[in-house]
Amino acid sequence: MAGLHSRDSEPWRVGVLFSRSGCTAVIEETQLRATLLALAEINDSGGINDREIVPVIYDPMSDPATFACHAKRLMVEDSITAIFGCYTSSSRKAVIPVVERLNGLLWYPTPYEGFEFSPNVIYTGPAPNQNSVALCRFLMERYGRRFYLIGSDYVYPRESNRIMRELVRNNGGEVCGETYLSLRAQHRDFVPVLGELKRLRPDVIFSTVVGDSTSSLYQSYIDAGLEPKVMPIGSLTTTEAEVRAMGADAAEGHVTAASYFQSVCTEQNSFFVARYKKRYGEDEPTNMCAEAAYFQVHIFAKALAQTDSLDTDTLRPVVLGTEFDAPQGKVCVNETYAHTDLWTRIGRVDSRGGFEIIEESCAQVNADPYLIGSGRALACS
Ligand code: ACM
Repeated sequence: MAGLHSRDSEPWRVGVLFSRSGCTAVIEETQLRATLLALAEINDSGGINDREIVPVIYDPMSDPATFACHAKRLMVEDSITAIFGCYTSSSRKAVIPVVERLNGLLWYPTPYEGFEFSPNVIYTGPAPNQNSVALCRFLMERYGRRFYLIGSDYVYPRESNRIMRELVRNNGGEVCGETYLSLRAQHRDFVPVLGELKRLRPDVIFSTVVGDSTSSLYQSYIDAGLEPKVMPIGSLTTTEAEVRAMGADAAEGHVTAASYFQSVCTEQNSFFVARYKKRYGEDEPTNMCAEAAYFQVHIFAKALAQTDSLDTDTLRPVVLGTEFDAPQGKVCVNETYAHTDLWTRIGRVDSRGGFEIIEESCAQVNADPYLIGSGRALACS
């Protein structure tokens, strides 16, 4: 490996668990790529304390039980303590008992429903106060107060919709319908839902549909002849990767709240996008989940350079409070919650499948996973 000074020292070994197959592989593949890009950057500039970082990678196939199995394999058979991985909250919840029992550290780079703390997890994706609160306010101000909630049927959508329902009601709005479909739902499964939407005519569709079925939702919406200018889909998980999978035509005009879009204007983002495309292809967009997967490896490396140890009890206290100039802007792992202070942005899909950023916070928003300080009233966001 170019740039490493000492070749007789053992490499640092870390685990990587992102799915390359199954219903969330499209987005998880980008998290895997961004993780490997960050590791390559670190190794190319000398590794950490003259030691290369070597990933041990397994494919959990979008299946929570397989995530748990591979996490155990990484920790028990491969003697690894640090694991980068998980997209769905079900997979994170399957891995947490393993890392808690064996004292590992899971680095989790995905938006999630909040209301969780584990001493064995570093959360680098947004909690609801960093995306849902701003999205709710934006949709209410621009489109109206009648929301319809649609989600995939597992913990993240059900919990995110519970929070959205509370935000909407506390601010004088109304939830006129709520429905859940299997993570493996196909186009035909969405047809009756779109029928109901045409009948109820909400102002906004708040979607927590994730994975492959995201395309089916947006495509059925077009087939139903609905109009994003009048009744947009507002999402927390539809990124450039899902838009690329469904085609820009299906997503144009719909809205997502995220900490990062490829279109973010920072010097660090120009470097990140250029390196990502150089490695994976000009047509491969970056996205919020890939960006979090990327910067969390750099935060890990910064802490490891100080501790010179992968022992969780040694590493974790140094990670807490660590700042990093990420592509989205400066971020910091919050000492209270081990969640990350992140930027909040609202983007609208443009005709080329990118996001036009319509609103952004003027600084990082402190992570508040229990919605204590942020409250449930939009005025406090
Ligand atoms: C998710 O399940 N946290 C996207």
